[in-house]
Amino acid sequence: MDLRHRDVDLRELMDDPDCDPVALAATLRRFDVVNRAVSGWGTVWRRHLRPALARLDRPARVLDIGSGGGDVTARLAGLAERDGLRVEWLGIDPDPRALAVARERARPGVEFRSTDSTALRATGERFDAVISNHVLHHLGEPELRSFLDDSLALSTGLVLHADIERGRTAYALYAAGILPLQRGTFLRTDGLRSIRRSYRAPELRLSLARHGTWHVLRPAPFRLLAVGSGRA
Ligand SMILES: C[S@@+](CC[C@H](N)C(=O)[O-])C[C@H]1O[C@@H](n2cnc3c(N)ncnc32)[C@H](O)[C@@H]1O
Repeated sequence: MDLRHRDVDLRELMDDPDCDPVALAATLRRFDVVNRAVSGWGTVWRRHLRPALARLDRPARVLDIGSGGGDVTARLAGLAERDGLRVEWLGIDPDPRALAVARERARPGVEFRSTDSTALRATGERFDAVISNHVLHHLGEPELRSFLDDSLALSTGLVLHADIERGRTAYALYAAGILPLQRGTFLRTDGLRSIRRSYRAPELRLSLARHGTWHVLRPAPFRLLAVGSGRA
């Protein structure tokens, strides 16, 4: 497997509007386990998001753009509750198939809405922090531009976009580690395609430099975190 360059022509099975809906729903539900194991949001919560929200000294509002099946939003809501922070969470995604699964995770303080970042920005709603997980590697250049610009315009504070870092070790570990979880889902095929589509840190730095001031960190093994400052 040649992982020297991003394979941006690869399409993930779940991005096909005609993909098997049963396998898609199973994939979205099981992302919870995968994201807990690999996404590094526990560390990002402790090091970045929690301190920023705690400093507000009032209830906060956080937006998750491209919330998919909603597991990252729901997990962060649980971490905030555990840590005694009052936070209202909104996950947005224009894909109705993802929204149906996300809404199974809705509860007081955790809402999921069918919209995209550009439409939400136009409503004038603003948030104390804006996050995303596994969205950057999906986007072509024009979508990346508007996604990043929307995220900065929607936030009065932190903007955090988390994603995979492409690499041979990540690829090999995921290929083996996902085997017990993959049955009836797209997790193996799409996870490996995601890795092939993802950035390495210097590539992401270069790409984001065209779109404002961003810092690219490595918060956990095989993970990238783009950190920006909202301008709302
Ligand atoms: C791979 S999924 C990631 C889902 C979820 N965040 C996760 O980690 O499992 C990427 C999602 O981003 C959504 N998306 C892409 N661009 C968006 C935008 N500008 N506004 C809202 N959602 C967007 C897509 O519809 C898709 O469901």
